[in-house]
Amino acid sequence: MAAKKPWSIRTFQPGADDAGIVKLLGQVATFDGSMAAIGSDMLAARLDHASARRGSAWRVAVAANGAVIGGLLCFFTGTLRTEVVVGVNPAFRRQGIGRALIECAPSDRRLLCASRESVGGARALLESTGFTERYRALLMRKEAVGIEDLAIAEGKIVEDTRKDSRRAILALTAALGDSGSAGDGGSDDRAWMKARLARPRAAALYLEVTGSDGKAVDGGVCIVAPCERAKKGERTAAGEPIVGVIEDIGLMKNLRGQGLSRALVRAGMHKLQQIGYRFVEVSADKRKAAAVELYEREGFDVVDEDVHWLKKEPKPAAS
Ligand SMILES: CC(C)(COP(=O)(O)OP(=O)(O)OC[C@H]1O[C@@H](n2cnc3c(N)ncnc32)[C@H](O)[C@@H]1OP(=O)(O)O)[C@@H](O)C(=O)NCCC(=O)NCCS
Repeated sequence: MAAKKPWSIRTFQPGADDAGIVKLLGQVATFDGSMAAIGSDMLAARLDHASARRGSAWRVAVAANGAVIGGLLCFFTGTLRTEVVVGVNPAFRRQGIGRALIECAPSDRRLLCASRESVGGARALLESTGFTERYRALLMRKEAVGIEDLAIAEGKIVEDTRKDSRRAILALTAALGDSGSAGDGGSDDRAWMKARLARPRAAALYLEVTGSDGKAVDGGVCIVAPCERAKKGERTAAGEPIVGVIEDIGLMKNLRGQGLSRALVRAGMHKLQQIGYRFVEVSADKRKAAAVELYEREGFDVVDEDVHWLKKEPKPAAS
């Protein structure tokens, strides 16, 4: 008699599998930092967003005892594009689970996904399933010590202690346009932004300038938060990340080139130091030399790279 496979793949069941997914994300994050460890409130916000389609395309790998040991999360972020996130519990890797999950991803869509350069298995799996590299972002860190704000000629940088999600979305959209949602598939969404800002050690900073009508407008925004991808050694005994990250930063086009983005970065770094993080993390698209140079000048060192992948949908059959 053939030995029974000790795991199987099935569709995700909203509600019943939520705790299993939260646990899996935490296990993968603390092991290799390649998934964001999010709480059940944040998972609920992601599931509520239209792009998740209630998790109907999600899959879980379950062990013989029913525990969730792998997951495939899909976000239908555009008419063609679908972001996929695959992760396998470190104790269950190299058994074909990752491959079995990625093969369940929608085959008629253009798939986007991200991995870390330091996780060799991800590259091997993605290349062997038809993904090609799109671009890379540098993950950079520096110690959170001796950080001081920069004086600015125009406007002032303020913290929004009310953590208004609408304000954050408006400011990000004004500064970044459509590219503001790149990467996380849900930054246009109120519930997702609300959950992000509600995290105890997150903060939203704004560059207030005077608009043409004399009223104050948000010319820039900087959102700082705990690093959800912090590994085990980068957390306290209670599991709190000791790394804080500048998650979003944006400055309106007409304000660029005056040193204001540097001031905004510095304000974000300063805030993270005040909150009590030991390290500050940022991410810079390697294709954007200005961002990389800014962070280098601020003393950041490269610690890893996020590799962004694409798998084109098959050409429609000629009719
Ligand atoms: C990437 C990941 C999902 C792979 O999961 P997995 O269950 O170990 O993968 P599989 O056993 O199906 O392996 C698939 C192939 O990837 C390659 N591979 C996997 N791990 C590897 C490793 N550590 N070194 C080299 N090749 C590896 C092999 O080619 C393997 O095929 P083979 O066993 O037929 O030779 C897992 O490492 C993981 O969870 N990483 C963190 C999350 C992540 O990086 N996700 C990004 C992808 S969206």
